[in-house]
Amino acid sequence: MEALVEQVRSLAQNGDEKLRRSILDSLQSLRDSIETADDTVQRFTFYNLQLAALRVGVDLKLFSLLADTEKPLSVVELSEETGADQVFLGRILRYLASFGAIKETDKDTFTSTNITKTFSVSSFQAAICHYFDTMGPSIQKLPEFLKETHYQDPQDSANTALQKAFNTDQPAFFWLQTQPEKMGFFQEYLTTNRAGRPTFLDAYPVLKNSIGLSPERALFVDVGGGFGQQAISFREKYPELEGRVIVQDLAPTLAHALKHPNVEVSEQDFFQPQTIKGAKFYYLRNIFHDWPDDKAKIILKHTIDALADDSLILIDDMVLPNAGVHWQAAQLDILMMTTLAARERTQDQWYHLLESAGLKVNSIHTYTSSLKDSIIEVVPV
Ligand SMILES: C[S@@+](CC[C@H](N)C(=O)[O-])C[C@H]1O[C@@H](n2cnc3c(N)ncnc32)[C@H](O)[C@@H]1O
Repeated sequence: MEALVEQVRSLAQNGDEKLRRSILDSLQSLRDSIETADDTVQRFTFYNLQLAALRVGVDLKLFSLLADTEKPLSVVELSEETGADQVFLGRILRYLASFGAIKETDKDTFTSTNITKTFSVSSFQAAICHYFDTMGPSIQKLPEFLKETHYQDPQDSANTALQKAFNTDQPAFFWLQTQPEKMGFFQEYLTTNRAGRPTFLDAYPVLKNSIGLSPERALFVDVGGGFGQQAISFREKYPELEGRVIVQDLAPTLAHALKHPNVEVSEQDFFQPQTIKGAKFYYLRNIFHDWPDDKAKIILKHTIDALADDSLILIDDMVLPNAGVHWQAAQLDILMMTTLAARERTQDQWYHLLESAGLKVNSIHTYTSSLKDSIIEVVPV
């Protein structure tokens, strides 16, 4: 058995990303096929407890404490560091170890695992806090919300399970602006969301389309660009390209934007007319998955109105296959439904949205295997 495990591990570590993912998916299918009904029930019904325990681990800084030292730490040492009661701490550590978040090396003694190291990183801790504090209560309300709305596909971003969970009538992004701690977790989580995966710059032929532009012209407008990571990566990958690189977002987000000498920031509500006219690229990453089609069409219309003859709209979003969607993509789609009445779109749904907005698809460049993150290059018909 040990030898078999080592063989699979070595295959995964030495193969490419596609092979590693296919091994993970096969292992999951293998587990599903050999577990008993009781195993299945125990596994699925306790998932929210695992997230709660991870959240406690973050609050007590357990992952950083264990990851920062090679030496295993005892419950007594961890109790001194965290101020938590020893008996309580022993129980929570034992539970975290039971699902691999940390490792028990001896009685009442623990060390880090691969998972501990991941959750010792601040932005991954922010992911735990975001999913537990903001997504968790919304997910909890989803069944009740869907029953009340007679199982219709949610279309109104001001009427989702999130509004029910937090007793607000504001759409999620407006409501989040009033919740500094939750907003902070969300924004920090976004800084490393999809870390380690390929990016649009690995897939899209930027140079083919952007040589010889004038230095005054906007080269790359990152619409709803958040903290500006994509714009900065673009500028750093192509320092030789003439033209301005600009991050646009709402003011509260831009207040936290990363600074770069050759990247501008500019306040822009994408539901208002686009103020930067005639840019070469209007780039929108993970924007349309936040909005139902009627709102997405407003954003597209304002972008179309700003285009020059040779401008290109680059949509960076997931393009789900029409069948056989990977679980990581399917769960994001349901999350979008839960909090934003939005969606991850299938290829058919993208074509439908874009054609109804008066656009045609020039090309689709898919650059991740499970999520099917893709650049859709579009122009007016
Ligand atoms: C899912 S995040 C994507 C951020 C960035 N494009 C990325 O991929 O990291 C959505 C972004 O849309 C911004 N946003 C929401 N409503 C907006 C609006 N009305 N106008 C401009 N930006 C908005 C949010 O502040 C947030 O930065």
